[in-house]
Amino acid sequence: MKTQVGIIGAGPAGLMLSHLLHLEGIESVILENRSREEIEGTIRAGVLEQGTVDLLNATGVGERMMREGHIHHGIELQYNGIRHRVNMYELTEGKSVMVYPQHEVIKDLVAERLGAGGKIYFSVSDVSLHDIETDSPKIRFKHDGGEEELVCDFIAGCDGFHGPSRKMIPNRTENQKIYPFGWLGILAKTPIANPELIYSNHERGFALISQRTPEIQRHYIQVDPNDDIANWSDDRIWTELKERVETDGWTLPDGPIIQKNIVSMRSFVCEPMQHGRLFIAGDAAHIVPPTGAKGLNLAMSDVQVLSKGIEMFFKSGSDDLLESYSEIALRRIWKAQRFSWWMTTMLHRDFSHTSFERGIQISELDYVTSSRAALTSLSENYVGLPLEWERAKALQV
Ligand code: APR
Ligand code: PHB
Repeated sequence: MKTQVGIIGAGPAGLMLSHLLHLEGIESVILENRSREEIEGTIRAGVLEQGTVDLLNATGVGERMMREGHIHHGIELQYNGIRHRVNMYELTEGKSVMVYPQHEVIKDLVAERLGAGGKIYFSVSDVSLHDIETDSPKIRFKHDGGEEELVCDFIAGCDGFHGPSRKMIPNRTENQKIYPFGWLGILAKTPIANPELIYSNHERGFALISQRTPEIQRHYIQVDPNDDIANWSDDRIWTELKERVETDGWTLPDGPIIQKNIVSMRSFVCEPMQHGRLFIAGDAAHIVPPTGAKGLNLAMSDVQVLSKGIEMFFKSGSDDLLESYSEIALRRIWKAQRFSWWMTTMLHRDFSHTSFERGIQISELDYVTSSRAALTSLSENYVGLPLEWERAKALQV
């Protein structure tokens, strides 16, 4: 089997890359180890930056998002029992975010690719990468009981944090921070609790009030990352959530919890994000703590640079942009890492803090919510920073 770009992983990175390449007449094949039902059924957060919304609309896959998603012009920060609205729309001169679950984006991209005749092999296994230092790298895998080999011009490792691609980059640097915070997340059958997301730094710990659909909501509370979900009855969860977010005159609607789990959180960046004809993108290269809602959006920005570089190679023979892929992608990745780290450390209760450190944390919230400059900084990062095209422009692309 042969193609121009072999893509490992049918997550947001792999699917969007395949779609962008197709729009430029470049052929790709996606190899995915889960079934279509699994990748479309894994409920994931979806706060889409303005740039991601624009990308989906500009490439013809935004129609259902615009119909079913919820545009949010702001968020609310809560501490000391008081809520402060951040009017991001006004502070960024008209930008906003779209709340539209990631698995819905996946459904739209899978439908688009298959409708356009794209090749996606689901439920593959034993994926391995070969000859990535040559100009005909190969991916070997098993599918439907047979052993297959895909000969490519390029391989895109979009296989997430646990996939095989990153490990093929020799002499890589893996930059990491593990946080002492876990998130207990629930899906509950309740009405939407608040028009906009509420991020609360409470003495007992962080809480986030989010949303999914008019009938199902997503909320989180900070817990010990080593805690066991078996210790958390539905009643205990609702009691803790209400304690951390309810204010005078505002109550949190509760109801049946249909899903609950605890996840730990880390910051992670792999440098570089390429070796020979292998390029990695999305969670394969980086992980952010979820507080800044950057994971999906970074995957989208990575593949916009990568697809442009591949397009430049096939259309003009130049590999200048591909040579600079890591450098360009990492500039935006590190900025998103900084913002995600900042939101996480500002909003979570660190029980190892001294009283001075807790005082500093509260004063940071006081400053952010009382300074237009600080609110503008938060807003421009939350709605999404521009793509790092400066270097790309210098390469005349
Ligand atoms: N072979 C084939 N496919 C694989 C392999 C493998 N060995 N390992 C992983 N995959 C698939 C996974 O099943 C998944 O569908 O690669 C895909 C990777 O998708 P994501 O993990 O979603 O990563 P990415 O596309 O970079 O998107 C990042 O997704 O997980 C969220 O929080 C994350 O929002 C972020 C976004
Ligand atoms: C979510 O809805 O799951 C969500 C929203 C905002 C975040 C993180 C998660 O910052």
